[in-house]
Amino acid sequence: MTNIPPLVPEIGFNELKVVSANALDVISQVRSAMLAPEARKRPPTFNSAQLAELCGIDKSRLHYLVKKGGLPGGTQGSGNRRAWTLAETRQCVRTVKADRLRDPTLSPGATITVANFKGGVSKTTTAAALAQGLSLRGHKVLAIDTDPQGSFTTLHGVLPDTEVSEEQTILPLCSGDATSIKSAIQKTYWDGIDLVAAAPLLFNAEFILPSRQKTEKNFAFWRVLDEGLTEVRDEYDVIIIDTPPALSYITINSLIAADGVIMPLPPNALDFASSGQFWSLFTEVCNSLFESRGDAKNFSFVDVVLSRVDRADVVSTAVREWIVSAYGSKVLSIEIPKTSVAASASAEFGTVYDLDSSTVQAKTLKRARDAYDQLVDHVEMQIGGVWAHSAQVVRSMMADA
Ligand SMILES: Nc1ncnc2c1ncn2[C@@H]1O[C@H](COP(=O)(O)OP(=O)(O)OP(=O)(O)O)[C@@H](O)[C@H]1O
Ligand SMILES: [Mg+2]
Repeated sequence: MTNIPPLVPEIGFNELKVVSANALDVISQVRSAMLAPEARKRPPTFNSAQLAELCGIDKSRLHYLVKKGGLPGGTQGSGNRRAWTLAETRQCVRTVKADRLRDPTLSPGATITVANFKGGVSKTTTAAALAQGLSLRGHKVLAIDTDPQGSFTTLHGVLPDTEVSEEQTILPLCSGDATSIKSAIQKTYWDGIDLVAAAPLLFNAEFILPSRQKTEKNFAFWRVLDEGLTEVRDEYDVIIIDTPPALSYITINSLIAADGVIMPLPPNALDFASSGQFWSLFTEVCNSLFESRGDAKNFSFVDVVLSRVDRADVVSTAVREWIVSAYGSKVLSIEIPKTSVAASASAEFGTVYDLDSSTVQAKTLKRARDAYDQLVDHVEMQIGGVWAHSAQVVRSMMADA
């Protein structure tokens, strides 16, 4: 003990400011290098086998449809191989699977919020994979980042610290400067996904919303995002909202705006315990808010998906059983395994759908995508149910009129 030098408390805010500026600078340099050479992400391309699989037909049928002129023919590349761009691929899927698409005259888009107030449980990875996976099934997606960390924004190729202005986030909705989210929407590198970005400035919402609640008569802070989405719900088939790791004012808004909730939950004891607190706090907050206003909220689905599952870990098997006892049928049978492919995709600021077989072996990539594909299939079915419900309401209103 006597050899330990005394620690003098001399790190002040000025020094922390220098550390912070330096850290932001390094992060920005790393991100820019990752997104090089043109500092922009590029969407994947698809070969005929991948395209046929996405269309749910075999390769000979695909070639027949292309020959007949019903589908784009792609571009001839090296070795006589054809490749289809992401936009062409989505066009093919939309043509072949037209019966799976939303009828915009009957149903608005479905909104899904990915939430869990524990950090690092793979909310953002799941939200991004869902956005990309659903767009590859032909749906038009609006991705909304409500986490000031801006990871969802980064995965869409936009740098939160340097490339996002206040107007491109949900902050104007929170402050009352805008009543619709429409003006915050930007295109992304990925055909079929538009983005409402996030940046650290979004932290201000946590002060603005409670202050408006105190001063504005009839203001309902929890409905700001829900109401802000009204104008664009008809334009998108699905809206995916990524949330911060907290039950913040913004997270409550994101949950209230949702038709369905996806909660990623790794099978480990601490994550499991905190998931229980999340639901009890959320229902407590809603009860006290809604009781006084006669307001109500119903979700069409709440699905718990086991994420980052390490099958070799014995403890996770036990915790998985607790999770199933606690959440019953809300726990999906689909599990997202922990894979180095998913981890390395995120190290390059992407998801498993950003990678192509030039960087990862086709077989390994298929294995890594398999669970995400199953999750996307499941969520596609759930949003189909949300659309069907809206259509039923519209039809019965028309019948009554
Ligand atoms: N299936 C997976 N296999 C391996 N690593 C994964 C997998 N899914 C996510 N990860 C890694 O786990 C880390 C946390 O993931 P992610 O950022 O999606 O979590 P999060 O819940 O959004 O975190 P935060 O609470 O900070 O917003 C990331 O480094 C990501 O690469
Ligand atoms: Mg996140």
